[in-house]
Amino acid sequence: MSTGPRYWAVIPAAGVGRRMGTSVPKQYLDLAGRPVIAWSLGLFLDHPHIAGVCVALDLEDGFWPRMACADHPRVRRVDGGSERCHSVLNALDRLAQEADAADWVLVHDAARPCLRRDDLDRLLAAVPDQPVGGLLGVPVRDTMKQATADGTIGRTVPRDGLWHAFTPQAFRLDLLRRALRAALARDRLVTDDAAAVELLGLEPVLVEGHADNIKITRPEDLPLADFYLRQEGRLGGG
Ligand code: CTP
Ligand code: MG
Repeated sequence: MSTGPRYWAVIPAAGVGRRMGTSVPKQYLDLAGRPVIAWSLGLFLDHPHIAGVCVALDLEDGFWPRMACADHPRVRRVDGGSERCHSVLNALDRLAQEADAADWVLVHDAARPCLRRDDLDRLLAAVPDQPVGGLLGVPVRDTMKQATADGTIGRTVPRDGLWHAFTPQAFRLDLLRRALRAALARDRLVTDDAAAVELLGLEPVLVEGHADNIKITRPEDLPLADFYLRQEGRLGGG
């Protein structure tokens, strides 16, 4: 028998990238010579502590089969759902066939290709001591405004204690499955995994990462991600 919980990754990649506006979904756009998803996924496949990775894909995804990692022995695929939370839950249900309830699952957006290995390692080091789980994020830097319906400022939101929530987000498999099922049962289409866990009244821990772990969302994000990868020396001399 294994000596302790294992670690798995779930990569939700079933979105269409509406805000990006490209015909090719953003996770398959070229970024510094590889598709975006190859960067996001590769970090987990290269990590010795990750037992396996489950990718959630659109039913009609014709790009995935052409990816080198599609046939990797540690990669499993499932169909995505209509929202990110459905895609993640499908992947968790698939992992539950081979993972233990107490195993950790790290959910990481396919659209976040700039995750640094040291941030991943910091999260992996932090969560085993956490009763609930945790996620990477960074404290907010800008002054935050709450807008009114006509686009004027309703109020200034105190920045103290406000964070951007990033991924990976790490939870025990059984807890996250229960949390997402409960959220969906209440028609709460949570946009991240922590939000589902919070709805159970639990408090995930925030682990500070780097602000370059951006989610590619709009066209201007792609050149920025390219810059960050080069800056980090991730291009292998290319
Ligand atoms: N995602 C998913 N299943 C969905 C919707 C999104 O697996 N039904 C994934 C996306 O592929 C992405 C991640 O969840 O990797 C974060 O979602 P987001 O950035 O919102 O991507 P899209 O939904 O593709 O973009 P948009 O909201 O602009 O359409
Ligand atoms: Mg979306």
